[in-house]
Amino acid sequence: SKHLLGLKGMDRQDIADILDRAAYWERQPKVSDALRGKFVANTFFENSTRTRFSFEMAEKRLGAEVLNFSAAESSVQKGESIYDTMRTLESIGIDAAVIRLKPTGVLEELAGKLNVALVNAGDGNNEHPTQALLDLYTMRKHFGEIKGLTVSIIGDIKHSRVARSNLWGLTAMGANVAFCAPDTMQAPELEHYAPFVTMDEALQADIVMMLRVQLERHDKGLIRSAEDYREQYGLTAERAARMKPHAIIMHPAPVNRGVEIDDELVECGRSKIFTQMEHGVPIRMAVIERVLTS
Ligand code: CP
Repeated sequence: SKHLLGLKGMDRQDIADILDRAAYWERQPKVSDALRGKFVANTFFENSTRTRFSFEMAEKRLGAEVLNFSAAESSVQKGESIYDTMRTLESIGIDAAVIRLKPTGVLEELAGKLNVALVNAGDGNNEHPTQALLDLYTMRKHFGEIKGLTVSIIGDIKHSRVARSNLWGLTAMGANVAFCAPDTMQAPELEHYAPFVTMDEALQADIVMMLRVQLERHDKGLIRSAEDYREQYGLTAERAARMKPHAIIMHPAPVNRGVEIDDELVECGRSKIFTQMEHGVPIRMAVIERVLTS
């Protein structure tokens, strides 16, 4: 497909090719002209810092022309639909669009109707494929191989597109995934693919991946308080001390310091949180190049 909508169903070799190409781009000088004359739009209908800027960095490093669209400053505010917005950008002449959406289930339909290549930058709770690819890249770089690794993903699994994309990508690469979440944040439809385990079990993995507590959901009663959450499901310094000596800590960020992860762990020796962000650029270079040249 000319699009990259998700990792579900993507085969091992395709994922490995993207990781290999990212490794190539990581070694290259900062700017190339690989995509000179190509126009890429970053269309964010939901807020972002990392994904948006690392895509822009990736596009500029590839020599593409970059157009930035943010819904808050656009005619979306006048009621224009996502489809009409994207058709407009297509008419104007873009070659590819990176897109982030609040709703789940819209992207597939959009991809069927548009001729421009689409790259999913996060859609609802469905997928965030480039996040998972940069996570896989970080794991492979650290451990040498993904196959056989044990990965615990801890937090709001139910609402997490990062958890889903990592599940599909990691499973394809032969890693073993387990989830850990409070009752209100579990996802029964995923139990078939990965077990839900206790916090003590989850801490015994090679990779402990924490998810952001979506504090904006507080009023929906998902969690009682940030303190309670930290107490029961947070990666505290005490819990981190019980991890395997070789194990690493990951988190897609943004991080709530002192809620799902203790402040002092965010930049500790075994944390890969800022390394993950660094890897977002070569991964997105590989992905943008792939959709524009396949
Ligand atoms: N990890 C991630 O997607 O961060 P942003 O929402 O800031 O892009």
